[in-house]
Amino acid sequence: MYVRELDLRDFRSWPELNVSLEPGVTVFAGRNGYGKTNIVEAVHYSSKLSSHRVSTDAPLIAAGKDNARVSLTTVNEGRELTTHLLLKARGANQAQINRTRLKSARELIGVLRTVMFSPEDLRLINGEPAERRKFLDDLAGLRMPRLAGARAEYDKVLRQRNALLRNSNMVLRRGYQDESGAAALSTLDVWDGQLAAHGAQVIAGRLQLIDELSPHITSSYASVAPESRPASTTYTSTLGSEVLDSRDPQVFEAAMLAELGRRRKEEIDRGTTLVGPHRDDLVLSLGDQPAKGYASHGETWSYALALHLAEYQLLKEDGSDPVLILDDVFAELDAKRRERLVHVAEDAEQVLITAAVGDDLPGNLDGAVSARHTVVMEDGVSRLE
Ligand SMILES: Nc1ncnc2c1ncn2[C@@H]1O[C@H](COP(=O)(O)OP(=O)(O)OP(=O)(O)O)[C@@H](O)[C@H]1O
Ligand SMILES: [Mg+2]
Repeated sequence: MYVRELDLRDFRSWPELNVSLEPGVTVFAGRNGYGKTNIVEAVHYSSKLSSHRVSTDAPLIAAGKDNARVSLTTVNEGRELTTHLLLKARGANQAQINRTRLKSARELIGVLRTVMFSPEDLRLINGEPAERRKFLDDLAGLRMPRLAGARAEYDKVLRQRNALLRNSNMVLRRGYQDESGAAALSTLDVWDGQLAAHGAQVIAGRLQLIDELSPHITSSYASVAPESRPASTTYTSTLGSEVLDSRDPQVFEAAMLAELGRRRKEEIDRGTTLVGPHRDDLVLSLGDQPAKGYASHGETWSYALALHLAEYQLLKEDGSDPVLILDDVFAELDAKRRERLVHVAEDAEQVLITAAVGDDLPGNLDGAVSARHTVVMEDGVSRLE
């Protein structure tokens, strides 16, 4: 698939951008801070409804504006779909496919599939578990939109449950003997049921993804860093590994309910939810050590690359080539890793690349560039030259 047309309004530093794109390699070049990454961030956001840089939408909206709009036309095996996404500073975001207004912006997920490589990827390896959960959930949601829904529902219930644990903490401590205590505890029971139901779906989705992704991660890592130790991945959960081995969502749900019951007192004491997929992690190992805290700088880059190469392969196996986005990565990579990435890029239907002035693309990719745009900025406003 490829993006044929991209229109932005009030997205970060772009009051307006209208650009036609083609299959093949497109480069956005310009000085540091001129707004190159903002362009590809908008494309990537339309695919996954999540930014690779920020966890909230507010920074995506141009300073002083109420809304940002990202519209793009995706061509997938000859079929065109135009999507519009309205990011709102207040209230829920809205989305439209062609002329149809969607009930939820989430319904956009899946129309466009992108894989992005960026300097932020290092956080996947040495950052907090939340980074890796986001990687899993974004990819699982892209492949199976139902899972994006399960994750959103889970987050909603989690927020409400945490609010109850925090705000009604004293009441909850009074227990069933007290009328208001009993009422609060029965509300907590309701949240437990919903949390376990959605949580089981989230965990099942992640495990299924990891089962498919792991072999690709191991082989991608070996091809990027043949001199290094073997890469392997394991999912760790508050439910324990035996429960996970069942690979059965009903077992997850029952185990989660039991664990919520077992740790209820502790949760009330601490005023927060301690059980569930929001506490889980994808442990990335090299040999028998975790990569986090042990991997060298080069190994960390290789691992980050391997995760996205695996993602790319999986999406490609699903059907059509995802759009490949390379945000400022070549400057950071050594020859071997560059070569591996170029290999994938040469093969992809569409590649969007950002590069700062003075950063050369690898030679064989430079020859494949079909369009080059120069980004400039004046008074904090980006435009194409
Ligand atoms: N919400 C926003 N409103 C207005 N301007 C913004 C907003 N968010 C970011 N910017 C501006 O966008 C610019 C950064 O854009 P971007 O990250 O795309 O730069 P870049 O060209 O990729 O730079 P580099 O080469 O250093 O990676 C900064 O000047 C920043 O002030
Ligand atoms: Mg950038």
